[in-house]
Amino acid sequence: MPPILGLEASCDESAAAVLAGDGTVLAEAVLSQQEHAAFGGVVPEIAARAHLAHLPGLVRQVMGRAGLGFGDLGGVAATCGPGLIGGLIVGAGIGKGIAMALRAPFVAVNHLEAHALTARLPGLVPGGAPFPYLLLLVSGGHCQCVAVRGVGDYRRLGGTIDDAVGEAFDKVAKMLGLGWPGGPALERLAEQGDARRYALPRPMLGRPGCDFSFSGLKTAVAQIVAGFPAGPLPVGAAADIAASFQAAVAEVMADRVAHALAMMPEAGLLVIAGGVAANQAIRSRLAALAEARGVALAAPPLRLCGDNAVMVAWAGIERLRLGLSDPMGAPPRPRWPLEDLARPV
Ligand code: KG4
Ligand code: ZN
Repeated sequence: MPPILGLEASCDESAAAVLAGDGTVLAEAVLSQQEHAAFGGVVPEIAARAHLAHLPGLVRQVMGRAGLGFGDLGGVAATCGPGLIGGLIVGAGIGKGIAMALRAPFVAVNHLEAHALTARLPGLVPGGAPFPYLLLLVSGGHCQCVAVRGVGDYRRLGGTIDDAVGEAFDKVAKMLGLGWPGGPALERLAEQGDARRYALPRPMLGRPGCDFSFSGLKTAVAQIVAGFPAGPLPVGAAADIAASFQAAVAEVMADRVAHALAMMPEAGLLVIAGGVAANQAIRSRLAALAEARGVALAAPPLRLCGDNAVMVAWAGIERLRLGLSDPMGAPPRPRWPLEDLARPV
């Protein structure tokens, strides 16, 4: 298969990548929009405009670095949902325009499917991550356990009933006076803290199924912070709160994933994906769990854990290999659950 161009613009990362037909990454570029930092969260309208400003340049950049002309492409894959509608329109529009000009196939990629299939990129997982496997998708917008049974064939085993885990990290980081996005900053601060200093709740621990909840944990942190005098927290206290929060999340996460593994005994592999999969405390907790259960653990390298276009191009390749592509009328979809993907025949 000729090279495939992938585009990602569903949230606040503008990204483009070119992959050879066998999945080799020829060039990739991710631009994390800095425009939102001042607002402490992604502003959809600003994100859409920033995608429009950045994506064309990123496309030219990756094509140049891959040493390819547009005529060398065998198809274009762009995230069409779920996500923020403005960015989806921009990314899908640019992708469709290029595909149309080339008379090449267009793949409307589901962002969650792209995260789900990342582990199958050649060379990432020894043995190539054969189906079926359990996916723990944990990011700022998503927090769910998914049974990945094939391309287009997914079953959500459980997920958050309130905040996504990355969102909880971001909100707690904000309470501690850290910058945004808060996850990486909170993890760094937690390294200096004492995780036993504060006894925080473990929401959902031991409950049947594998749903998550983080709002109670967040509220508990807010109450601790409120107990301090107004103004910046003492650095030591902030570090202890960060460490205690992270320990609570990691413990809950391991418990929920243990339940998910029990719900999917056929899974021989646990894959963690999404921005929060970068967290070392969570990773090591899950590594211990996987080892105890005799299940392999795959965590894509950090640059592939967050939003990127390599995963989008790869999802496009997986679909094109099965003869699947989408019409130019494929709509951008702000809501697009994984289960809605028709199973390919
Ligand atoms: O997958 P991602 O880049 O974007 C989406 O949300 O789709 O994930 C970003 C989220 C943010 O909430 C960020 O705070 C969180 O992942 N995150 C982390 C870490 N790195 C990123 N959370 C905890 N620990 C980290 N090291
Ligand atoms: Zn994502």
